[in-house]
Amino acid sequence: MTILAIETSCDDTASAVLVDGHVRSNVISSQAVHDLYGGIVPELASREHVRLISQIVDAAISKAGIALSDIDAIAVTNGPGLAGSLLVGCHYAKGLALALGVPLYPIHHIEAHVYSGYLEDPSLTYPSIALVVSGGHTSIFLLEGPTEYRILGSTTDDAAGEAFDKIAKMMGLGYPGGPAIDRHAQAGNAEAFAFPRGRMQEDSYDFSFSGLKTAVRRVVDRITGSGEPLPIDDLCASAQRAIVDVLVRKTMRAARENNVATVAIAGGVSANSELRQSMQTRCLEAGITFIAPRMQYCVDNAAMIAHVAQMRVAHGVAASMDFAIEPKAIRSR
Ligand code: KG4
Ligand code: ZN
Repeated sequence: MTILAIETSCDDTASAVLVDGHVRSNVISSQAVHDLYGGIVPELASREHVRLISQIVDAAISKAGIALSDIDAIAVTNGPGLAGSLLVGCHYAKGLALALGVPLYPIHHIEAHVYSGYLEDPSLTYPSIALVVSGGHTSIFLLEGPTEYRILGSTTDDAAGEAFDKIAKMMGLGYPGGPAIDRHAQAGNAEAFAFPRGRMQEDSYDFSFSGLKTAVRRVVDRITGSGEPLPIDDLCASAQRAIVDVLVRKTMRAARENNVATVAIAGGVSANSELRQSMQTRCLEAGITFIAPRMQYCVDNAAMIAHVAQMRVAHGVAASMDFAIEPKAIRSR
C-alpha cells in the first residue's frame, strides 16, 4: 500500500510517501520568511504553503521513486493548526485525491505526533503513554488501542516549546529558542536559580509554565537592571531543569498509574537532550521501554501523518472527502 501524505498545519510544508509501512521519502521545507519577525506570521505561512506545496509533493514522490499512478491513498492534516495553512494542504490533497480517484484520510496532527515514536519501532503494546511536547502542544496521552487514545492532561497556559521560546527571547537568544537553551544549558548549573515547577505537586496531569516564565523574567530584569552581565548558561540550565522536571515527573506517574510497558515522547521539544536523557534513565529504572523518535520524526513532518492513515486503513476506518479543517487544539478533559 502506497500512501502520500501532506502536512501544512503550521510553518512547515511537508510531504512523505509510505510504502507498506516503510518511509520512502520525508520532505520538509521550513519557512525562513518568519525569521525577521521573531515568531510565525500566519498570513505569510499560508502564502508560503501555496508557493511551495507543488514542489514539495513532487519532491516526495520522486525521492520515493514512485509514480503518481502508484498512490493508493492520500493523507492530509486537517487540524489543529493555523486555519490558512491547513486550508492550503487540505485543498491540494482533495484536488489530488479527486484527480487520482483515490481515498483521502483527514488526520489529526497531534494524534500523528502521539504515534510518531512507532513509525520505525513496532514495539507498541497497549496501554501506553505518550508525552507530546511542541511549540503548540503539551499533553500526556494514554493510548488504549491503535486508534483509541485519551488525553490525561495538557498545559493550561503556554506549551513547553512556547516556554522555551519565550524564555530564550528574554535573553536575546533568537527563535526558535529551544535548541539555543539546550546548548547553553550544557555549560550551566541547573541549581543556580530555583525556578518554580508549575503544578508539579498536584494530582492532575495538567501543566503550567506561566509562573516559570514570570520568574525568569524577574531575574533577567533584576540582573540587567544591576548592570551585571546575564549568566546565560546558568539561567538556561535552571529554566530547562524546571521544565524537564515537571514533564518527566508527570509522565512517569502516568506510566506507573496506568501500568504501561512503553512510554514515548514526541514533538519538537522531544529533541531536548536533558528530556531524552532523563526520560531514558527513569524508564530504565522502572523497567519500561522508552521510545524517542529520530529528529526528523520529532518535528512536524508528513511521515507521521501517513503512518496514522496506514493505521486507519488497517483498522477499516472509512476515508472521507467531506471533512472540514479543525484549527482548534483539542482540550484536556
Ligand atoms: O513540533 P515542532 O517542530 O513544531 C510545533 O510546534 O508543532 O516544535 C517546535 C518547538 C519550538 O518551540 C522549539 O523551541 C522546540 O520545539 N525545540 C526544542 C528543542 N528543539 C526544538 N525545545 C527544547 N530543546 C530542544 N533541543
Ligand atoms: Zn506539531
